[in-house]
Amino acid sequence: MRRKLVVGNWKMYGSLARNKELLEGVLQGVNGFKAADFGVCVPYPYLAQVQAMLHGSNVAWGAQNLSQHEQGAFTGAVAPGMLLDFGCRYVIIGHSERRALFHESNDIAAAKFDAAIKADLTPIFCVGETLAERESNVTEEVIARQLEVVLNHAGVSAITKMVIAYEPVWAIGTGKTATPDQAQAVHAFIRQRLAQLDGQMAQGLCILYGGSVKANNAEQLFSMPDIDGGLIGGASLVADEFVAICKAANGAQ
Ligand code: PGA
Repeated sequence: MRRKLVVGNWKMYGSLARNKELLEGVLQGVNGFKAADFGVCVPYPYLAQVQAMLHGSNVAWGAQNLSQHEQGAFTGAVAPGMLLDFGCRYVIIGHSERRALFHESNDIAAAKFDAAIKADLTPIFCVGETLAERESNVTEEVIARQLEVVLNHAGVSAITKMVIAYEPVWAIGTGKTATPDQAQAVHAFIRQRLAQLDGQMAQGLCILYGGSVKANNAEQLFSMPDIDGGLIGGASLVADEFVAICKAANGAQ
C-alpha cells in the first residue's frame, strides 16, 4: 500500500517573517497526521530557517532545483552536497517553469536527476504536457519521452528512489485543475509505462498530481487509485489551505 505524500512548492515566495508564520500554522495543523507524508520545497536562502523549524517534525523539506555538478566554478549554482548540509530530503527536478523559463532541456533535467540520486536526495521529477500538446493528442508521447530520458541516464533502479509529479502545464497556477479522471488516466499511463521496466517497482512508485490543487478539490483527486498525493504551488503558501490538503491526503485510502 502506497502512502500519500503532499509537498508544497513555494516557488519564489516568502520572507523570514512570512515563512515563520506559515510554518507555525502548518506544524500545528499537521501535527498528529500519521497516515501520510508531508514536505515543503523552499527557496535556497530559507533552508536553514526551515531546517531549524521543521527538524524533528512530520514535515520534511527540500529545494526546488540543484546543480548537476558536485562543485566548481559555477557562479550562482547550488550543489547537491550543499542541500544535504541543510538536511534536505527532496529536490524538485524538471519543473515546467525551469523547462520553459530557464531553458532546461530533458537532458539537463536528466543530469540533475542523476546528481540528486547520487547524493541520496529524493528527486520529485515533474512531467507534463502543454495545452497545445494535449490538444494535438500527444500527451502520452511527451510524458513517455520525459520519463525515458531520465531513466536512460539513471537506470531502472531509480524508480524506487524517485517521486514523479504529473503537472499538466496548462493547470499550473491557472486555477484550471485537471479533472480527477483526466489526471488518473495519465497517472495510470505513467505507472503502466514504468511497469514495462519493472512491475514491482512501478507499483511502489509515488506519483503526485500538481496543478491548481486546492483544499476543495484535493479529496477527489486523492481518491483516485493512481494519484498518490500532490505537489502544491499557490495553496502551499496559505497555512489553512495547505493543512486542509494534507488532511485530505491523511484521510485518503
Ligand atoms: P499551482 O502550482 O498549485 O500553483 O498550480 C503547482 C506547481 O507548479 O508545482
